[in-house]
Amino acid sequence: MESTFGGKTVVVSGAAGGVGRAVVAQLVAQGARVCATDIASTVTQFDEIKPDQIVSVMADVTKSDDVEKIFGVAEAKFGSVDILISNAGFIISKSVHDTTEEEWDRVMNANAKSLFLMSKRALPSMIAKGAGSIVATGSISSVLGLPEQAAYCAAKGALLQLVRQMAIDYAPKGIRVNAVGAGSIDTPFLRRYLDGLEDPIAGEAAIKAAHPLGRWAEPSEIADAILYLAGKKASFVTGQILMADGGYSAR
Ligand SMILES: NC(=O)c1ccc[n+]([C@@H]2O[C@H](COP(=O)([O-])OP(=O)(O)OC[C@H]3O[C@@H](n4cnc5c(N)ncnc54)[C@H](O)[C@@H]3O)[C@@H](O)[C@H]2O)c1
Repeated sequence: MESTFGGKTVVVSGAAGGVGRAVVAQLVAQGARVCATDIASTVTQFDEIKPDQIVSVMADVTKSDDVEKIFGVAEAKFGSVDILISNAGFIISKSVHDTTEEEWDRVMNANAKSLFLMSKRALPSMIAKGAGSIVATGSISSVLGLPEQAAYCAAKGALLQLVRQMAIDYAPKGIRVNAVGAGSIDTPFLRRYLDGLEDPIAGEAAIKAAHPLGRWAEPSEIADAILYLAGKKASFVTGQILMADGGYSAR
């Protein structure tokens, strides 16, 4: 029996990070051919794991030339891209009056412009095939105002609105576009955030307590939600954000 992702070509950004790694591992286990991309050089470690199923590209997804390079490599190795997982992102934790223009642009570009550029490059071949799936990694910050996350809330909110907008434009072409609204996840992203706090231990306890399930997520749990939206089991789901947040946004 062919698995959900058997024979599919998938581009995954932020692939060197916590969630991205889990997504790549699950996709490969389910038969996908994956172009794993990240700005971090560690993404090239993937090349040694399963060269017949993974190719890696070191690239900055906020730059159109780099995005072109990613898709050029993916298409040359595996053929046209069926699924895009736009997962790269990062946070600067500041309020508006403390945020510089440069910080604002970096956060907006990494989390929101990247989805625009990657989708713009992925869509023409999906339109030609009459099929495709795009999943973006959003956040509780896509739907809630959270303290000291000015640029990040704006960026993840913009990501969600672009997901909804693209879902409308491309549904008639057989292309679905969705987001995962992640709560806190045990990744380098969260560890860096905690390290920046005055009291990281108290911060960890407070973050866990803020999630009704009383903990934060493992990267594989967010990958599960991303793969659900990316694959056939979500064939009638588009324009949605699946809140994988331990109940955070249910209060
Ligand atoms: N960790 C959390 O608590 C949490 C919560 C909600 C949402 N998220 C989102 O989940 C996604 C994955 O984050 P993670 O937790 O795995 O963090 P992570 O820091 O482990 O991974 C993010 C990856 O994105 C890459 N990246 C950042 N900017 C890039 C750019 N311009 N071009 C290419 N790659 C770039 C980084 O190098 C990194 O490897 C992000 O979009 C993040 O905003 C994380």
